[in-house]
Amino acid sequence: MIGFIGGSGFENFLDGKSVGKFDITTEWGKPSQAIKKFSLDNQEFLFLQRHGDGKIPPHKINYQANIKAFHDLGVKKILASAAVGGITIETGTVVIPDQIIDYTYNRPQTFFENVKIVKHIEFSQPYNHGLRFKLLKACEDLKLNVKNKGVHGITQGPRLETSAEIRRLKNDGCDIVGMTGMPETCLAAELDIEYACIAHVVNPAAGITGESISIKCMENEIKQSAHNSFKILAQFLLNEQLINR
Ligand code: HPA
Repeated sequence: MIGFIGGSGFENFLDGKSVGKFDITTEWGKPSQAIKKFSLDNQEFLFLQRHGDGKIPPHKINYQANIKAFHDLGVKKILASAAVGGITIETGTVVIPDQIIDYTYNRPQTFFENVKIVKHIEFSQPYNHGLRFKLLKACEDLKLNVKNKGVHGITQGPRLETSAEIRRLKNDGCDIVGMTGMPETCLAAELDIEYACIAHVVNPAAGITGESISIKCMENEIKQSAHNSFKILAQFLLNEQLINR
């Protein structure tokens, strides 16, 4: 089963026709909202809005519960959509990132707490290569402006960064900056769930253009990105169907 983690607005494109709803509680608490099952071209997938009804800020999301809930419902692959600022990449581009630098703090990072033996996971390639390839193919089929790799810096938020912080991220090698990629990605890895990210560049990161970031423009781009997310998922599922026929 595929799990899709999206932002607000995504569901509008599904006509609200869910074919199932799971209001579950995990040992790590409740996910951001009930997980819904949808069917697109006869293929079912599970959907979770990361920010719930839009009120949960990035640092307050219960990432453990979100990932564990998907796991308990049999999800083996996660496609996660994220709005990001562009450091070396232009607004309007879809990026399928290949690397992460984590700048977050005080977010529970693991399921392996209070266990008898410390467990480490291999994380040199944080995103699943096969899923990234398929997402890229879906974007190319749709003729979207897509970049096949990029380093995703994850900051704490919920405020945007200062210009100096973005200079630092750029020096570190970050191409895009978002607030929700970690610990979501490493928690999925801990449970052996394949995970890839669809990053939508919705604004130039702080200081990049020399002008301040327009929150209104950013919000408009986020709305547009929900539509692109939907199109990419639909194309991804269609391509899967063609492969499996
Ligand atoms: N910084 C961090 N997260 C973001 C941004 C940004 O500029 N835009 C959208 N999400």
